[in-house]
Amino acid sequence: MLELDDLTLRLGGLTLAEGLKLTLQPGQLHAIIGPNGTGKTSLLRALFGELPLAQGQVRLDGRPMVPRTLVAWRQAIGYMPQNTQLELDLSVLEVVVLGRLQRLSMRLSDDDLAAALGALQALDLAHLADRAMHTLSGGQRQMVLFAQVLLRQPRLMLLDEPVSALDLKHQMQLMEHLQAQTVQQDWISVAVLHDLNLAAQFADQLIVLGEGRLLAFGPPAQVLSAELIQRLYQVPVDVRHDLDGQPFVRTLRAEARFRQ
Ligand SMILES: Nc1ncnc2c1ncn2[C@@H]1O[C@H](COP(=O)(O)OP(=O)(O)OP(=O)(O)O)[C@@H](O)[C@H]1O
Ligand SMILES: [Mg+2]
Repeated sequence: MLELDDLTLRLGGLTLAEGLKLTLQPGQLHAIIGPNGTGKTSLLRALFGELPLAQGQVRLDGRPMVPRTLVAWRQAIGYMPQNTQLELDLSVLEVVVLGRLQRLSMRLSDDDLAAALGALQALDLAHLADRAMHTLSGGQRQMVLFAQVLLRQPRLMLLDEPVSALDLKHQMQLMEHLQAQTVQQDWISVAVLHDLNLAAQFADQLIVLGEGRLLAFGPPAQVLSAELIQRLYQVPVDVRHDLDGQPFVRTLRAEARFRQ
């Protein structure tokens, strides 16, 4: 499990998270939601060891994150950053296979190549294998980077807005794949999502960040209320529940509010 123990993050004079206490369980998909600029990316960067903690501790399966052993810490993590710029002149297959290598100088085995091709096939991307990465569309690039983190077979999966460039079909494909693999491989998965309905559909737990702290943590059906969403985003919404009790959120336009 991943434990955040009294974690505080500060950046540019701002407190992004104050005394965060959370325990994330393996086999579960956690969605981080919250407004722009609340510290979702910063939290993932902190968990990856890229942003120093102002206070507190992070432990993965009981082992604390310490600067001295950051290289080993990161080997257990699949991290897909927001807005990745890949300037390297690499093919799709080369980018995916990098997920397997700890160093660029490592030799590729047949097994690594087969795993990379397998990941591309699983996501219907095999036809892109030989294309240069910089010739892909934004959505295609995002899917390829997802294939790359899958190949790491991480203990902890950190995905920062992994579906931001994807059409409906690919959003579902990525989330279904992530959810199934999280259960099968017992990953601790964390994805930042802005789409509240996608989060409600796929996440076991929601981590709600806002106002410089953790505002709520728990299953979507318990956490997603109209009050919370309006408080977070200052947008009027209607929250309904389907027959399974799963919430779905609809924004209300000014005219609709007037008619109510
Ligand atoms: N390198 C930096 N130096 C100073 N301030 C920063 C830096 N990076 C981010 N910030 C600030 O920290 C706050 C949190 O940023 P962060 O990127 O974590 O937000 P976010 O929740 O991921 O937002 P978004 O939904 O827009 O991606 C923002 O107010 C941002 O302006
Ligand atoms: Mg962000």
